[in-house]
Amino acid sequence: MPLGSLVVISALVCATSAALTRRAVPCPDGVHSATHPACCALYPIVDHIQQNLFDGGECDDEVHESLRLTFHDAIGFSLSQGPSGGGGADGSIMSFSDTELQFSANGGLDDIVKMQEQCLSECGGNGVVSPGDFIQLAGAVGVSNCPGAPRLKFLLGRPNATAPAPDKLVPAPTDSTDVIFARFADAGFNTDEVVALLASHSIASSKVLNPSMVGAPFDTTPELFDTQFFVEELLRPRGFHGTELQSGQTDSPIEGEMRIMSDSLIARDSRTSCTWQSFINNQARMADAFGQAMAKLAVLGQDTSKMIDCSEVIPQPKSLPVEHSQSVFPPGFSNADVEQACSATPFPKLSTLPGPVTPVPPVPS
Ligand code: HEM
Repeated sequence: MPLGSLVVISALVCATSAALTRRAVPCPDGVHSATHPACCALYPIVDHIQQNLFDGGECDDEVHESLRLTFHDAIGFSLSQGPSGGGGADGSIMSFSDTELQFSANGGLDDIVKMQEQCLSECGGNGVVSPGDFIQLAGAVGVSNCPGAPRLKFLLGRPNATAPAPDKLVPAPTDSTDVIFARFADAGFNTDEVVALLASHSIASSKVLNPSMVGAPFDTTPELFDTQFFVEELLRPRGFHGTELQSGQTDSPIEGEMRIMSDSLIARDSRTSCTWQSFINNQARMADAFGQAMAKLAVLGQDTSKMIDCSEVIPQPKSLPVEHSQSVFPPGFSNADVEQACSATPFPKLSTLPGPVTPVPPVPS
């Protein structure tokens, strides 16, 4: 082989391995290391977030709200409307909260925006991270507290927002699937990515949709990033449970559980039903798809060539407890309750948890 070819090959090998193994250098604190010196300043901010926002590292209500906030900030972005269609993941929901928190789709986010603003000012984050960085950092750190979650990426360097996002860019639970898929397409997401992002509803509860169901979780395990949400959404309703359904809500057969109309429709839509079903009993596939879609969401509208990859500051999430590693039917439910929507593949065989049918308790706030 000519010498020139050898040089080219070895240069390629070096470039590839450098890309795969980013070398970490020690941080001045003598404890951590980072792949870029700018990432070192994030470690104390992460600690502060864990202690003050997430109660020492829980997968709690503030984590759920922080994850929702990553979405409601980022989705303020439109390819078709150009620069006037919002700056995406730019922190505008915090910097221009007087405007954006008035949008009806942002209902219920006031408290977490205030808590994060306070956390940002107290943790020494001002000047290190922008509001847009902080929202995505808090979301990624929070998700790491939920067993079963993927370790989300974090890129540093979102400039401050210069204007609020326009109204009507955040999807509503009353929207049709056509409207939702078109909105996501206009932000650069395909239908498979929409389903992947909805894994977020595995760690979710509702606060504002139905005043008589405050704290109602979207699945029976809101403290775990597991696949139960995808199973339970497909269970056939069993009738009225004593609370009047509100607009944007539809009946779940599990008492106390919130089922929003848009999730129910996306689970049953022929464009998404097979991707939806593919996540059932396939934790790795769901977690991986969510991680990839979140990596895209977190930098929506941003110039990533000017950002620094500081993903190493995000804690490694815990695995699911063994007893939750498989999808199951909740007590009293079986395959006969499934409204199968994917015609291409059979519904996975799941066992039923023992015990009586019980209501699911609200998530403590
Ligand atoms: C089709 C798109 C979506 C619609 C229509 C939608 C709608 C909703 C609604 C209505 C709620 C309950 C609000 C309340 O009553 O307090 C909610 C909660 C939540 N959403 Fe979504 N959502 C969508 C996509 C997403 C995405 C992409 C994410 C994150 C990546 C996300 C994360 C969450 C989380 C974590 C909660 C729970 C918040 C809490 O527990 O306080 N959602 N969503």
